[in-house]
Amino acid sequence: MISGTTRFVPLLAHPCRHVRTPGVFNAECAGRELDMVMVPLDVRPDMLAQTIAALRAMDNLAGMVITIPHKTEVAQYCDRLTGATEMLGVCNIIRRETDGSLTGAMFDGEGFVAGLRHRGHDPAGRRVLLIGAGGAASGLAHALAGAGVARLTIANRSAEKAETLARQLKAVFPGTDLGAGPDDPAGYDLVINGTSLGMHAGDALPVDPDRLGPGTLVAEVVMQPDMTPLLAAAEARGCRIHKGINMIEQQVRLLVDFLI
Ligand SMILES: NC(=O)c1ccc[n+]([C@@H]2O[C@H](COP(=O)([O-])OP(=O)(O)OC[C@H]3O[C@@H](n4cnc5c(N)ncnc54)[C@H](OP(=O)(O)O)[C@@H]3O)[C@@H](O)[C@H]2O)c1
Repeated sequence: MISGTTRFVPLLAHPCRHVRTPGVFNAECAGRELDMVMVPLDVRPDMLAQTIAALRAMDNLAGMVITIPHKTEVAQYCDRLTGATEMLGVCNIIRRETDGSLTGAMFDGEGFVAGLRHRGHDPAGRRVLLIGAGGAASGLAHALAGAGVARLTIANRSAEKAETLARQLKAVFPGTDLGAGPDDPAGYDLVINGTSLGMHAGDALPVDPDRLGPGTLVAEVVMQPDMTPLLAAAEARGCRIHKGINMIEQQVRLLVDFLI
């Protein structure tokens, strides 16, 4: 029940038609009897600065959750960044403190790894190919390195972003076998689409499915559609699959905890 005491949490996206986080977030708040509600806001990139300045002024704002394409851009509007956010320069949640200042954090990676473990797929000791080096993929790469993968290769359309990310991670995880590399999925235990490919009809596949080994686990960050063309192609090849919805389902508790 929304009342005058309800704190609100906008989800900043552009476009926002695809988002599934509000349903999961609001169910978590209702289940915990928290007086907090999420509403999606469709914010064009050129309006991001004004939107954050306006939201910051509102005393009943608990914080904001950030998704495509704003995760990198928003970091500069935070007064402080916590944890991996500081190194990666991306955040997917901002908490408004009582003095109006903004604290940024990132839970995409923890949510993704928790989702894998929840489904019985511990990434520890696995050879992992991660496609993407944007906001979500950066968080995933950090969490996967922290989870003790045997090898992590990051492949991205803009190769220099993959190289920068790998360099940043190497400084934090010097003992982990990680680096930028090609998007060939052969020889990996876990192949992850960390890009937005698959959200729109006609998108190219992030990897060539003919190169997937039958024992490979193929995972998604894209959650709309639920069954992406990559997951369908992987399943047709006999691979195990892991849907994008697992990531938000396991992450939402962390997001709510951060805001209360
Ligand atoms: N399941 C969940 O809980 C969850 C949570 C967060 C995000 N997501 C999903 O994760 C996806 C990425 O979000 P984001 O915030 O990381 O976005 P982002 O920061 O804008 O990054 C987009 C990534 O996709 C790549 N990409 C975009 N179009 C491409 C194309 N045509 N060909 C090849 N690569 C392309 C980009 O490569 P370049 O660097 O070359 O541009 C970049 O690596 C979205 O679908 C979002 O909905 C899911």
